[in-house]
Amino acid sequence: MADKGPVAMIDPSQLMRPEPTFNDKPLQAYRDYTIDDTDPIKERVRRTYYEMHSKMTVDLFKEKREKWLKFNHFKATVKDALIRLNEVVDESDPDLDLPNIVHAFQTAERIRHDHPDDDWFHLTGLIHDLGKVMALYGEPQWCVVGDTFALGCKWADAIVYGPESFKNNPDTYNPKYKQVSICTKKKNFVTTTLYGMYKPHCGLDNLLISWSHDEYLYQFLKHNKSTIPEEGLVMIRYHSFYPWHSGGEYRHLTNEKDVETLKHVTEFNKYDLYTKSEKIPDIEALWPYYEKLIEKYIPGVCEW
Ligand SMILES: [Fe+2]
Ligand SMILES: [Fe+2]
Repeated sequence: MADKGPVAMIDPSQLMRPEPTFNDKPLQAYRDYTIDDTDPIKERVRRTYYEMHSKMTVDLFKEKREKWLKFNHFKATVKDALIRLNEVVDESDPDLDLPNIVHAFQTAERIRHDHPDDDWFHLTGLIHDLGKVMALYGEPQWCVVGDTFALGCKWADAIVYGPESFKNNPDTYNPKYKQVSICTKKKNFVTTTLYGMYKPHCGLDNLLISWSHDEYLYQFLKHNKSTIPEEGLVMIRYHSFYPWHSGGEYRHLTNEKDVETLKHVTEFNKYDLYTKSEKIPDIEALWPYYEKLIEKYIPGVCEW
């Protein structure tokens, strides 16, 4: 059950916001996860996350990975998939109530403005959320959208709604992840140990991160032999991993290579987040430019 009444929920990514905003919306107004069941958007966001935190387990991750990495769901060009993404409104996003394709073009165009020569980066911005097409093939939104977190270890404090939101998750009580009982004066709560099933500094590549559009699209690009450079691929793979890239968590599990990855993901994040209330771009006029990029980096009919 959710707590009743508005509860202040400061998102750690607010500490990472030195950049000027791209529009009139103040920086603190983004990623507001205050619980308020009288506000339909806030309540929709809360419900999506609580369901995700209750159901996402190591076993479920493996099941979804097995299912989706067969790439036998449909065949489509990247452009067609982007158009289909129009049907998805992200139920975890407190900042956006528009079709995803609008967000795709907003992100891409802002990157293009700031990094005119890195055409792979423009395309990365355009397609970064394309993995959400899973929602059109029977995958519930809580398994597709939202921030991601590491599985099989301690639930990080910086996860949206906090470790308490995992109290109905079976992994919280699974002995395989070396639980310890934490008793406080007010309540008894069981949590996993810091490292869980991992070795110290095993690296991001070895973490099981909650199943979402990030991992699916990364694996899709590998499977379909995209030539987007590695920087773009890691931006896609870890862009929703907020507890790590903005919350400063999991440093006991990451390694030297991940320091570099963090720079790329942080650069990408400001475009993903702060462009969400910009004007709606003229998508029809922009297609010819982006079609060329698709042709260059991920051409033809792909397997999804
Ligand atoms: Fe995303
Ligand atoms: Fe996004």
